[in-house]
Amino acid sequence: MKNLISILDLSVEEIDELIATADDIIANPKKYSEKCHGQKMATLFFEPSTRTRLSFEAAMYELGGNVLGFSEANSSSASKGESVADTVKVVSYYADIITMRHPKEGAPLVASMNASVPIINAGDGGHNHPTQTLTDLLTIKREMGRFDNLTIGLCGDLKFGRTVHSLVQAMMRYNNVKFVMISPDELKIPEYLKQELIDAGVEFAETTDLEKAMPELDILYMTRVQRERFFNEADYIRLKDSYILTSEKLAAAKPDMRVLHPLPRVNEISLDVDDDIRAAYFRQACNGKFIRMALILKLLGVE
Ligand code: NCD
Repeated sequence: MKNLISILDLSVEEIDELIATADDIIANPKKYSEKCHGQKMATLFFEPSTRTRLSFEAAMYELGGNVLGFSEANSSSASKGESVADTVKVVSYYADIITMRHPKEGAPLVASMNASVPIINAGDGGHNHPTQTLTDLLTIKREMGRFDNLTIGLCGDLKFGRTVHSLVQAMMRYNNVKFVMISPDELKIPEYLKQELIDAGVEFAETTDLEKAMPELDILYMTRVQRERFFNEADYIRLKDSYILTSEKLAAAKPDMRVLHPLPRVNEISLDVDDDIRAAYFRQACNGKFIRMALILKLLGVE
């Protein structure tokens, strides 16, 4: 049995296979409509979600399967003090696969050590979000046609933004990928990730200046400042509008650059950017369902 806790649980070859399956699902959705007939997915969401949970649920339904679960900790026995380990031991009797989002870093890993069905990490605290990264990778492949030779700007909350952490780990495995980390000093990427980049000899720069970085970027990955991870509201308010992408700023970007954002957006991309062909974030959200269909098929071992 296989779990997806970190994006590094998948090899580059396995990611290629998932992308090929997702492309085939997009081209021939009918072919897949009964693939998970009779199977059940549990969505255990201890933290808010729109895209991740609903795209997982839509994915399972489109495969002919069924879904059960909860969308907030308060409606589960976690509110009575039940441990993650006990919860997933029990849910393993009711479902064939479990997706879990949890505010504590490592909770899905603990779940995978206690469940008897595959566990998918749908976001653990400020740590990892591997299925968002699969969504990002499918989007990069469909929009840019390649993973090699890319300069990727990561902008916003690089400290708490779990999607950024998983994306860096995924993209650093390809050839000639460079990162430009654009953030306020308080929200720089974690030291452990910086060390991974240094150890692997991957080129990266850190800056506070989005406009200066813009012309060299092939991808600009915008992120929301993660209010729920701040210790005090005053810091959040001070930092929340550090970067606002406008069509005026985008004028300095390459004509074929792409803007990605895991969403939800708060203020960091102004609405006038949405109509630019380079704005790929809604197409990205659409891709999320298809790559999650491919992932469910893989982890359930469906041919
Ligand atoms: C992200 C998350 O939950 O980390 N959202 C998502 O899954 N698409 C990004 C965010 O909440 O800012």
